[in-house]
Amino acid sequence: MNLEILEKMIKIDFDNLFLQDTANGVQKDDFTIKSEIIGEYLNKIHDRKQGFYKTIDNKEIIDEINQYHEEIEGKYDDIVVLGIGGSALGTICLKQSLKYIHEDMLCSEKGPKLHVLDNIDPDLIGQIDGAIDYEKTLFIVISKSGGTVETLSQFFYFRKKFEDKNLDFTKNFVFVTDAKVGHLREIADTEGVKSFVVPDNVGGRFSVLTSVGLLPARLIGIDIEALIKGAQKMRDVFLTEDFEQNLPFKIAYAQYLLAKKNKNITVLMPYSQRLIRFADWHIQLLAESIGKAKNDNGEIVNIGLTPVKALGVTDQHSQNQLFNEGPNDKFFIFVEVLKHKNEIEIPGYGLEGLEYLEGVTFNKLMNTELKAAIYSLTQNNRPNIKISVSEINEEIMGGLFMLFEASIAFLGELFEINAFNQPGVELTKKLAKDFLKNE
Ligand code: PA5
Repeated sequence: MNLEILEKMIKIDFDNLFLQDTANGVQKDDFTIKSEIIGEYLNKIHDRKQGFYKTIDNKEIIDEINQYHEEIEGKYDDIVVLGIGGSALGTICLKQSLKYIHEDMLCSEKGPKLHVLDNIDPDLIGQIDGAIDYEKTLFIVISKSGGTVETLSQFFYFRKKFEDKNLDFTKNFVFVTDAKVGHLREIADTEGVKSFVVPDNVGGRFSVLTSVGLLPARLIGIDIEALIKGAQKMRDVFLTEDFEQNLPFKIAYAQYLLAKKNKNITVLMPYSQRLIRFADWHIQLLAESIGKAKNDNGEIVNIGLTPVKALGVTDQHSQNQLFNEGPNDKFFIFVEVLKHKNEIEIPGYGLEGLEYLEGVTFNKLMNTELKAAIYSLTQNNRPNIKISVSEINEEIMGGLFMLFEASIAFLGELFEINAFNQPGVELTKKLAKDFLKNE
């Protein structure tokens, strides 16, 4: 059973939901639900006809990406992703968690460098412009709709650069977009640009495990088969009707019960520099999926949970004061990494009173500080859970993406809202276009 294998990689400790202070914690007896009810929620999710947990079985996507990788291997020094929101955040996370831990640290590994331009700040565009050799750069333009103005503008800009240099842009561009509709699809078909498809039943923020995230990941040497394998294991857990086993449901249910106790903020706090971009990815997933004006019956509910990101241990010296003593309106999800890639010992200095540091590793210091953070919050009656991952690798990242995507799907059903649309985002997109047309 996948659950047993998965348990060795991803475990969750829910004990600190059950606080002595019942006004702020969850009652142990309340934190369970019959299998039939989980089955009903799963049926509701199936009825929404979403593909995020199904496309991971499509082997053709992987084959197509691997084939493309073989064709272009060694040709490019830089890869620039043009995309925003769900078309960028997963890739940024994959890059940081599995490749370059820190943006400004040089990557010692061979292969192209990946830059994700998820903003239209002219200084950002100007800097990339000055830093790349166009002939040795591959642009991946990612837009599910093919009509997002930020991404199209970037594409127009960089395409013109090729024209100015008398270069054939189609050799250096690849699109990831809808199979049938949108400007990018039209350009791909009429001008002969290589393209990959975003399945139409997978929304932007759920698309990291489609070509949207898998293509750039593969091109910088990430093992995408392992990513998918981890996601499949977690998907099987998501589809189990047993409360104890269904980790995505348990997280959603904790959030749901705590929202009733005025905990409308979810803090995701990984104790890992590699995972801070995962928290950014999670911000979009939670905010855009659950922040909704209307419920399934069309009634105004203005539901939503506000996501907050925090980094262990850095934020222990920043937001931690607020977390411990400020308003008790938050639910904390900690992420602990049991084995980092490096094990580094802190040398002793012979100073009196600091003997406790001798022989301690940074690894131990980090996880001990996590323990202290959890203890203090629990003592202060702040409900929290801890996800422990054995290490950070492709399989575990695939599992984590699926854990949270599946959990959000359940949360939508618990709140009786559609977690898969984004009318607020669409409204702003439309207004920006209208303003430009009329100015
Ligand atoms: O999750 C979403 O649907 C949005 O955040 C989109 O990802 C974002 O607006 C970009 O859209 P597109 O991929 O169509 O360019």
